[in-house]
Amino acid sequence: MREVAPLSANVVGITVAFEDGRPLPAWEPGDHIDIELESGLTRQYSLCGPRTSADSWTVAVRLDRAGRGGSVYAHERLRAGASVRVVGPRAKFALEEAAAHVLIAGGIGITPILTMAEYLAEQGSPFRLYYFDRGPERMVFRERLAALGSAVVIVDRAVDEVTTLAVALAEAPEDSLVYACGPRRMLDELADLVGSERLRIEDFAPDGSPLVVAATDDEAEGAADDADEFEVQLGAGGSIHPVPSGCSVLDVMLKAGIDVMWSCREGNCASCETPVLEGEPDHRDVILTDEEKAANDVMFPCVSRARSRRLVLDV
Ligand code: FES
Repeated sequence: MREVAPLSANVVGITVAFEDGRPLPAWEPGDHIDIELESGLTRQYSLCGPRTSADSWTVAVRLDRAGRGGSVYAHERLRAGASVRVVGPRAKFALEEAAAHVLIAGGIGITPILTMAEYLAEQGSPFRLYYFDRGPERMVFRERLAALGSAVVIVDRAVDEVTTLAVALAEAPEDSLVYACGPRRMLDELADLVGSERLRIEDFAPDGSPLVVAATDDEAEGAADDADEFEVQLGAGGSIHPVPSGCSVLDVMLKAGIDVMWSCREGNCASCETPVLEGEPDHRDVILTDEEKAANDVMFPCVSRARSRRLVLDV
């Protein structure tokens, strides 16, 4: 942990780096990383530092005392110099090419949106960014936003009731793609205003970590339907363990001493992603696309089970 520094009244910036200053993998606008704040408390945050920083990654965390504990830990207990485990970068909100882009951020949702705007500005691609928040003391990255000039519209909802999402979209060219990140209420309103073929969204909890996605009835039914027992082999030539009904593959891995990250245990955070060497997983996550599921080369062992008698995992 290189630095934990306030970015606004209720947001801290967290910068991580290797202790020896080695370069980190490159990342794209919209990518996020998993940070294990302490054992069992892993959160995902969008990378938001300048992409030119080759030896560090920065994320921003908004304090949410009503949340699940990650932001309180980050604000009150994380200190520069601490060791944390980080996985990534992961691309779940990639920027696609378009004739023009409309970028909409609500609150801490500015983190992926800002890096997209900076990238589009570098490329000379037309875009407009709307940043909605309530009160200047809550807003972050004001200098970087100012450097993007008139393409950025900052809307303080405490005083501006005129610049609405509908107003922002009214100016958008018809062939533009709309990228949005923010609270669910804002994204629902956008979904009513923009056709799904033009809208790309990422919804965030108030602290900046992805929201838990509620299982559909079908998924809930599937999760209960785990009566079939199967075996899991931990590594090529590794030990073989039964996975009984009612026990997840993740639990079996942890019990066997495998060092695997996890957070949501609901198949939506991607922390426990595990490569599959052999066998056919029964994918029950909400992360992989149908195509990715069909490839059967990774699985999320917190929820997914097996269609084959044995799964061999690359752990
Ligand atoms: S722990 Fe979140 S997907 Fe497995």
